[in-house]
Amino acid sequence: MTDRNDAPPPERVFRPLTLGPVTLRNRIFVSAHTTNLGERHEVSDRLVAYHRERAAGGVGLVVTEGLRVHPTSLKRPEALSVWSDDAVAPLRRLTAAVQGEGAAIFAQILHSGREAADDYTRTPSWGPSPIPWSRGAAVPHAMTTDEIDELVDCFAGGVLRAAAAGFDGVEIHLGHGHLLQQFLSPISNGRDDEYGGTPANRARLVERVLTRTRGLVPAHMAFGVRISAEEFVDGGLGVDVMSQYAAQWASRYRLDFVDVSHSAYVGGPSLSTQMADMSHGPAPFAHLGKAVRDRLPDDVATLLACRIDSLDVAEDVLAAGCADATAMTRAHIADPGLNRKHRGGEVVRRCTSCNQLCIGRSSGGLPISCVVNPEVGLEEAWREAYAAADRVVTGGRPRLLVVGGGPAGMEAALTATRWADVTLVEREPALGGALRTARALHGRSGWARLVEDQERTCRECGVELRQGVAFDAGLLTAEPWDGIVLATGAVVGPRWSDDRDPVRCFGSGVPDPAGVRRAAVHDDRGGWEAWGVVAHLVHHGVETHYVTPLQSLAPGVTIYSRLGLLAGLRASDLLHVHLMTTVSGWRDRVLTLRASLPDTETAVADVDALWDAGVATPAAPRRLPVPHRVVGDAYAPRGAGWAVYSGRLGALRILADIRHRDDPVARSTAQRGLDADRRVAHVVPGRTVKIWFQKHTIIGRNPWLDETYPRHATAMLGDRADVTFVGLPGAVYDDQIPADYVRFGQIEVFFSWYFASQAVKAERAGYDAYVIGTSQDPGLAMARSLVSIPVLAYGETAFTLARTHGLRFGVVGFIPELEEALTANIRALGLADSCVGFRYLEGGRDLVTSATRDGRTDALAAAMDEAATTLRRTGAQCIVPGEGLPNEMLWAAGIHEVGGLPVIDCDGLVMLTAEMHARARRLRVWAPDDDSYDTRRAPDEVIDRMTEIFSPGGGRW
Ligand SMILES: Cc1cc2nc3c(=O)[nH]c(=O)nc-3n(C[C@H](O)[C@H](O)[C@H](O)COP(=O)(O)O)c2cc1C
Ligand code: SF4
Repeated sequence: MTDRNDAPPPERVFRPLTLGPVTLRNRIFVSAHTTNLGERHEVSDRLVAYHRERAAGGVGLVVTEGLRVHPTSLKRPEALSVWSDDAVAPLRRLTAAVQGEGAAIFAQILHSGREAADDYTRTPSWGPSPIPWSRGAAVPHAMTTDEIDELVDCFAGGVLRAAAAGFDGVEIHLGHGHLLQQFLSPISNGRDDEYGGTPANRARLVERVLTRTRGLVPAHMAFGVRISAEEFVDGGLGVDVMSQYAAQWASRYRLDFVDVSHSAYVGGPSLSTQMADMSHGPAPFAHLGKAVRDRLPDDVATLLACRIDSLDVAEDVLAAGCADATAMTRAHIADPGLNRKHRGGEVVRRCTSCNQLCIGRSSGGLPISCVVNPEVGLEEAWREAYAAADRVVTGGRPRLLVVGGGPAGMEAALTATRWADVTLVEREPALGGALRTARALHGRSGWARLVEDQERTCRECGVELRQGVAFDAGLLTAEPWDGIVLATGAVVGPRWSDDRDPVRCFGSGVPDPAGVRRAAVHDDRGGWEAWGVVAHLVHHGVETHYVTPLQSLAPGVTIYSRLGLLAGLRASDLLHVHLMTTVSGWRDRVLTLRASLPDTETAVADVDALWDAGVATPAAPRRLPVPHRVVGDAYAPRGAGWAVYSGRLGALRILADIRHRDDPVARSTAQRGLDADRRVAHVVPGRTVKIWFQKHTIIGRNPWLDETYPRHATAMLGDRADVTFVGLPGAVYDDQIPADYVRFGQIEVFFSWYFASQAVKAERAGYDAYVIGTSQDPGLAMARSLVSIPVLAYGETAFTLARTHGLRFGVVGFIPELEEALTANIRALGLADSCVGFRYLEGGRDLVTSATRDGRTDALAAAMDEAATTLRRTGAQCIVPGEGLPNEMLWAAGIHEVGGLPVIDCDGLVMLTAEMHARARRLRVWAPDDDSYDTRRAPDEVIDRMTEIFSPGGGRW
């Protein structure tokens, strides 16, 4: 397989694919991956946002991370489960979000078996036999036959819950060395009952689970399995056996797909194949897909994963007949917009296959992130941070200087170009900083991708790149910089300053093996910096002594890479390891080593070169006369992922520094809004209320208005609630405002239906309240029948407020035809006596249209004043704006009184009321009655049938 830049545009990957009853829009999918973004084993807002982003990027299918079916597999609270019915409603939010973006979503159903043992639950793990997954791991409990029965029931329960949650399909996990594979494989199954011994007995549990679950999957859902086609363990399952099983199961259980992966969860190199890192070439296990696919019936699709990290490679895999669809999982962690960007010719941020912040963090129990994409798992928070930056930068574009062209500097530069004119200076002729060395090491070339992608983006975003230019006082004063980002990296120096033989430090250049027969590497960190050098030297045939005071090997390299790395080095016979040892002398090519347990000294002769971790000292000047931020290694040397993250954050922070240069209080307030990570850290789960505010206008038509509504929401609710403003679809009308459409009851029928169906969407997407933000309250009664979240409406709340305070109100509007609809609403509320009448603005339509365009409200306010004065004379005690647009304009102009009467800010009021109702519901101040005519819920299948028959255009909501 090749990873070509000059390949013809991929075409097969974009063809739809049918998996039984489900058709995917293309053949790229995101396979299951544990994110640790769950909360209390349930889907969280962050997880919904994470997958929504990937679905919006254009993949055909998202498979959830393994949903655990039983308490013995729960692991940490961030892992998801389908063990209880409580999981269903949150999962529904996830399915709705992904389906809403046009992708299908399958649930992966999993029991992880013997490797699930965890301090968190204190639950012994289950396995077929008391054989731990690796040396030193906990011994699992060998399952009894009753427990096996219980497990089969739990898989069945998981599938039923997945169906209830609206998934398009289920994938039973038979691979990756999890429980079902543990039963299947001779390496983990030592039983002598009907579940062990012969291959047929070992397959019995898998077959019971498939028999039971297949029968429960509704006809509209796809059903398939994930397998490890190779365990890569001596005596384990191989591709011949697994492809036979796959073919048998495909026919017997009417599988719609087989998702082909590989590896077993064992303490050996097999584990390092599961997410092949940058030491592997592209699509290293495509042959497994081919072997399985060749045996499957034609109507059963083969899905394939592993380091298919560009669309060109995916195209090759499909063309070679190795699969019908390809996972690009880490590729989509790195860049969720990959498909869309590829089609639009934009720069894709490519996965480096470093395995550092995705699986590296996940296996450490942390939420996943990504070295090249700091937004992972913080999608909403970064969106808000960018919006905050939009508000910070007003007026002209500041001039920003970025010093240093490593990953931190380039990230800062390319991020800042959205708001600033950016110049980047780099002392060296080439960009990339410390990654220039890292990418040149054997097996580490994946780093080139980050450097290339950042550099290309900088160029395409218009960053002025000045390479080979040093930063000095002249540069500082030569041009009027508004702010500076210092990304000057760290200087790594030797830790000895006596007259020993010369020591080379990591990062000070690519290790040159020429003339080196024997070398030593002295390291006290245990990460890739050292192990990259070791692997490079060994690859070039250098006998290498690895010396470390640490107690274990490569603790800074994720187990998913470490076990393969060490196995490869062991096979070379060139590596000698000295644990708990330091270099105590180095003179005349003799290396003296001091071991701490026991305390002994030994010598290694004829050592030609010593590489040492050295001491990294940040290299940023302390004070500068203009606002400045220090990012990346210059702030604290911590590797590429941190450099990219801090570069992006630094770009936002410097904007606030520049804007509020002389006002430290305003500056620190602005910084709070920009800090995506802290924003997440400070969110108390369940504290923020999410409100969907549905409007008649079209988002994007009136930039001034689009900007006013969110400001209004912030002024009303601060950070107590997030209000999302949603308009009508753009095709509904061509005008700037909907005035010519809302005047017909006939058209209002469609709007009412739409407003009501949007309430369903809002509820399914996890909103706490739904607002109908337009005075005639279209679809209000329908929406209340359809959803259980509070539904509030502009007209109803405003009229009721007047009544609550015993005030007679008059309505001032600009669309006279609405009077009939509003009068009917007022009557229905029993408030006819409180309404003194209606008045319309002279030339109101034009006044509102022009004010909507530029936000100038003087003429509108004058006309409102006149109309309100008339109403006051007829007895009105307060004014209700007859439509949302004038209401918004008055609020934006700070006008709270017209014609001598208070004017009700109906938009503000309805937002506040929605928040209050949502909170009241949360606190059980009220609970929805589920047994009245409007709130009683019909069976799902009836609803589905009605939706199918009656929805405009048919199909789902
Ligand atoms: C962070 C992370 C977590 C994963 N968790 C799961 C999982 O829960 N279930 C599963 O079947 N595979 C899991 N995988 C494996 C992926 O589905 C996929 O097979 C692997 O990443 C190789 O594909 P890629 O090169 O396209 O990333 C995980 C992978 C990653 C990176
Ligand atoms: S952390 Fe590395 S391997 Fe993981 S998705 Fe990001 S770039 Fe790819």
